[in-house]
Amino acid sequence: MSNLENKRIVLIVSGGIAAYKALELVRRLRDGGASVRVVMTEAAQRFVGQLSFQALSGEPVHTDLLDPAAEAAMGHIEIARWADGVVVAPATADFLARLRAGAANDLASTICLATSAPILLAPAMNQQMWQNMATKDNVATLIKRGLRSVGPDSGAQACGEFGPGRMAEPVAIAAALADLFVPQTLSGIRVLVTAGPTHEAIDPVRYLTNRSTGKMGFALAQAALEAGAEVILIHGPVSLSAPSGAAAIAVVSADEMFHAVMENIKNIDIFISCAAVADYRIESPATQKRKKNDTSLSLTLTPTRDILKSVTAQSMPPFAVGFAAETENLLEHARSKLERKSLDMIAANQVGVKGLGFESSDNELHVLWKGGQQHLAKAPKEVIARQLVGLIARVHGQKES
Ligand SMILES: Cc1cc2nc3c(=O)[nH]c(=O)nc-3n(C[C@H](O)[C@H](O)[C@H](O)COP(=O)(O)O)c2cc1C
Repeated sequence: MSNLENKRIVLIVSGGIAAYKALELVRRLRDGGASVRVVMTEAAQRFVGQLSFQALSGEPVHTDLLDPAAEAAMGHIEIARWADGVVVAPATADFLARLRAGAANDLASTICLATSAPILLAPAMNQQMWQNMATKDNVATLIKRGLRSVGPDSGAQACGEFGPGRMAEPVAIAAALADLFVPQTLSGIRVLVTAGPTHEAIDPVRYLTNRSTGKMGFALAQAALEAGAEVILIHGPVSLSAPSGAAAIAVVSADEMFHAVMENIKNIDIFISCAAVADYRIESPATQKRKKNDTSLSLTLTPTRDILKSVTAQSMPPFAVGFAAETENLLEHARSKLERKSLDMIAANQVGVKGLGFESSDNELHVLWKGGQQHLAKAPKEVIARQLVGLIARVHGQKES
């Protein structure tokens, strides 16, 4: 079932060239099971006629703030209260500026100010307008206030230019809107996620590491937050921003990650071990930078402590999910790790394949647990993360009941 089923969506259309694409968005939202009421700015009505939106939504289109008939029943407040979600598509530069300023000088902006429903923006404009500091600043402020944004895409523009500013495709906008209504399957659950690589010092300037970017772990933290969990994210050195709402703890080495996890594991319900923690560290890192010379150099490696095993060895261990990144015999190795480390679930992914896993935006997982398994087909890591979190919530719920 789609997350949009039975949801009441207000679609605000502002006056950009992409307004015609909002017609298809109405179709997509209704296909997903949502009821749609369309509100158009004055400028939007110069681009597309009300009648098309009325026919596609099956509802009258709203345009006028100062309409005596509608306002006899406080129409603007009624629409704002009716909405489960508001989507602005296209969102013009002008509309974004008005939203940021808290303007209420037409029906569309007044509804945005008066609603308590989540708001999704789908900006669309000329690439220079999009890259202008004023627009960037407006969007960043709106996102900081909790609004969501999808797109814009990059490509050829109606004005003949090329660059970022094309409105996201209606199917992507509908998907982003559906994400606002993720079932709260982890409400009241405390989740600890580890992510990214670790750095094991060789000397003050060099280290051993691996190809993990942290993307999968960060996407899992985001998905767990969306499902209503309280999230702690312990991560190694990455160039990603932690999802807002997560308590993020940055560490560098495997040893630091071990301590950070052990200090925070108490009261955790679900532990997702996604970090690519080094198996070995340098036994005695040099305190000064090593100098190059013509002889070969041997480094002595010593095993790091096993974080997952230490977590599951506790007297009251959390529901533990491990990752197995393998280059061969994927399922065999994953099943053995599931048993060996007393895990509740393991997500196995093939690494060393171009376009999947490390340094890639996509992933494909084989998820195994005691009593079941599921294949999550290749998809962007954000999508895989939501699927995996859904699965974790289900199997964790079964174990608890
Ligand atoms: C042909 C044409 C196309 C336009 N396309 C866009 C656009 O894609 N994005 C945008 O931000 N503004 C665009 N504008 C400017 C807006 O229509 C203008 O800023 C208007 O005041 C927006 O009003 P609204 O935000 O109340 O809908 C366009 C203007 C014209 C004349």
